[in-house]
Amino acid sequence: MNVAEAVASRRSIRAFLDTPVPLETVRRVLDQARMAPSGCNYQPWEAIVLTGAPLKALQDRLAASERDDPQEYDFSAPSAIGPKYHSRLQHLGGQLYGSLGIGRDQREFSKAFSDRNLVSFGAPVLLLCHFPKAMKEPQWSDAGMWLQTIMLLLRGEGLDSCPQEYMGVYGRSIKDHLGLSDDTLLFCGVAIGHRDPESPANNFERDRVPLDDNIRFEGF
Ligand SMILES: Cc1cc2nc3c(=O)[nH]c(=O)nc-3n(C[C@H](O)[C@H](O)[C@H](O)COP(=O)(O)O)c2cc1C
Repeated sequence: MNVAEAVASRRSIRAFLDTPVPLETVRRVLDQARMAPSGCNYQPWEAIVLTGAPLKALQDRLAASERDDPQEYDFSAPSAIGPKYHSRLQHLGGQLYGSLGIGRDQREFSKAFSDRNLVSFGAPVLLLCHFPKAMKEPQWSDAGMWLQTIMLLLRGEGLDSCPQEYMGVYGRSIKDHLGLSDDTLLFCGVAIGHRDPESPANNFERDRVPLDDNIRFEGF
């Protein structure tokens, strides 16, 4: 698989098969992803990767936990994003829940599906990316590049993923359960496994804005 194919075939998978992923494969991907770029070469990303009983123990803990108080989130979604971005979010919800047969007024069903984030949509492996709270926006961006590098390398291994900011809503419980200090920022989860090719959760059309809406070319 070349890079363009990896980019094109990656999508956020929200229904995984229970096929296990060997440690050797995860290690190979993470070893290769060490070459991701980072400002000042800080390589600020750290992660805990769970499968099997430790993953189940975390999921049980989350199922028994309340969401964090929003005042205590390590970071929060931007407020007042405006109609341009709001409509993109709405469109995603319409595509995903429409594919699942969940109507706009069926909030209990869409919430139940969203709560599948807690079990990482059935993925056998969960990577939890974290770093010291002292890190600022440039280092958050470094971590994002590292995560995308991982997700593309996973495609090269025939594997799939879903990035999961949702985990941040349970940041305190996760950090407590995994023995991470409160100076740690729980940045993002990544569910890892094999996609269920039949699931409607993995088979809706994903929207993107046209290239020239976001990019200005000059001097060509
Ligand atoms: C940093 C980040 C966090 C995300 N968190 C979640 C999440 O918690 N749950 C989820 O279902 N999707 C999550 N997504 C997936 C986005 O919804 C998805 O990337 C976007 O809709 C584009 O679709 P695609 O990834 O399938 O191309 C996240 C994506 C990113 C980049």
